Amino acid sequence: MSNPKIKVENLSKVFSTDEVDTYALADVSLSILEGDYVSISGPSGCGKSTLLSILGLLDTPSAGQYWLDGIDVSQIGLSQSAEIRCEKIGFVFQQFNLIDELSVADNIALPLRYSRKKHSREETAARVADCLGKVGMQNRSGHKPNQLSGGQQQRIAIARALVAQPAVLLVDEPTGNLDSKNGDAIMDLLGQLNAGGTTICMVTHDPRYANFAHKQINLLDGKIQPGDAYHGAGRQGEAA
Ligand SMILES: Nc1ncnc2c1ncn2[C@@H]1O[C@H](COP(=O)(O)OP(=O)(O)O)[C@@H](O)[C@H]1O
Ligand SMILES: [Mg+2]
Repeated sequence: MSNPKIKVENLSKVFSTDEVDTYALADVSLSILEGDYVSISGPSGCGKSTLLSILGLLDTPSAGQYWLDGIDVSQIGLSQSAEIRCEKIGFVFQQFNLIDELSVADNIALPLRYSRKKHSREETAARVADCLGKVGMQNRSGHKPNQLSGGQQQRIAIARALVAQPAVLLVDEPTGNLDSKNGDAIMDLLGQLNAGGTTICMVTHDPRYANFAHKQINLLDGKIQPGDAYHGAGRQGEAA
């Protein structure tokens, strides 16, 4: 069995203010293997985004351990975490978060520009074209984001998240700003990407979309509900 792409143990997150401590996550342990497609579901406020932000190195846990692609990232500082995030994580947000002033191609190329590794102009162009192909948007590379529909913008955001060939694609409510037709199309795309080998962890409050994943994690009040299959095999049907 390959090493987990993501492994967390006894992860907790407390948000403290003068008045209250909010336990957003309590003792969360999970593993995500290469080729997995994992969903994280649960009611509003149960800690889904907090968990995904910590997995994406956008936030730090209050306690617990985290290994990302075999690297212990539990205690790393900000600059190292930015470097590792750039190399290992592709993040897709509900609001797309594209840069309106840049073309589609330049938006997708951004992670390569911020990467420690240098990429030639030719290699950048080839990777951008490859990712545009993966999301079915080859003929939109010169457009600006505001010339695209919401569903198309989310495809570009997914291409941008893939361009640096991350260890894992983290997706937070990817259909939240889309109508059901475009939402279904984005879910089909994520399914195709996973079938092609992309490891995916997706937050969704929609049980129908959670079923697209091969393993479902349900959070309630910051805790994983018992019985969730989050330790098992990589792809469906493979031995653990
Ligand atoms: N920056 C923050 N400061 C204080 N409390 C927060 C912060 N972010 C999230 N929380 C609280 O943590 C809990 C989990 O939030 P979140 O992870 O956003 O939930 P979900 O994504 O499942 O809706 C909620 O009670 C929320 O109010
Ligand atoms: Mg959320």
